[in-house]
Amino acid sequence: MVDTKVMLSGLTLDNPVIPASGTFGYGKEFAEIYDINILGSISFKGTTAEPRLGNPLPRIAECPNGMINSVGLQNPGLKAVCEKELADMAEIYNKPVIANISGFSVEEYVECAKAMDKQPQVGIIEVNVSCPNVHNGGMAYGVLPESAAEVTRAVKAVTSKPVYIKLSPNVTDIVAIAKACEEAGADGLSLINTLLGMRIDINRRKPVIANKMGGFSGPAIFPVAVRMVYQVAKAVNIPVIGMGGVSSARDVIEMMMAGATAVQVGAANLVNPYACKEIIEDLPKVMEELGIERLEDIIGIIE
Ligand code: FUM
Repeated sequence: MVDTKVMLSGLTLDNPVIPASGTFGYGKEFAEIYDINILGSISFKGTTAEPRLGNPLPRIAECPNGMINSVGLQNPGLKAVCEKELADMAEIYNKPVIANISGFSVEEYVECAKAMDKQPQVGIIEVNVSCPNVHNGGMAYGVLPESAAEVTRAVKAVTSKPVYIKLSPNVTDIVAIAKACEEAGADGLSLINTLLGMRIDINRRKPVIANKMGGFSGPAIFPVAVRMVYQVAKAVNIPVIGMGGVSSARDVIEMMMAGATAVQVGAANLVNPYACKEIIEDLPKVMEELGIERLEDIIGIIE
């Protein structure tokens, strides 16, 4: 019997597989087709202080081996998430969840973190300083070490829950930003968010996406994600949640060998709603094939 358990900031996950924020909603639709309690955890859709309708349509562009989204942080807002969505989620999922929060000011991140701190089922607060789809917020806080550190410090000051900072790949030196977050008190890091991309409809001579650009995700970005997880995990002493194009149990193992303690699955959920279930079911078989007894033993084994 292989052991798929991993420890993440004091939480024991049955396995490292976590649906990524924005690709799984609050779990409702997926709970109708399988028992989502098999998941290691769930990172639910990013919460902002106020409700957001998101960006104008179209906001999805298909690409070979991936997709571009420009959702624009659509969500019902902090009050509705805490009072309704989390209560509903508790009915269908009985493990600690990851609260992804976003903001357009440091004060907004703080407001969201304070509210999530009070939610008993929130095990980790994931601070999104890397959304490429909004102006004056999101990624704006994650492209410089100073501003990423400022958000980290402010959030850490108002919660006793573990704080993970979700990093952008759209930077020249992700390691410098990761280290700045660690020094500012981050308990862990999540990476990578999407790569800024663009498609053009050559018949209409217009960008496919109304907002022109969006975040590119899917299997095409997996090698970039593995590289960044490897670089960051080698440079910091806090856990890394790896993500970016993960779509199989073998990808999970590769991400963990690069240095990830847990792994989020994003775009794959949109292509195949059973993606996380299939990965979790395949994981023990692939571990046996590769002679891995305990998944924790392979974290960061690549020199
Ligand atoms: O546009 C969005 O809601 C995506 C958010 C993100 O990539 O962080």
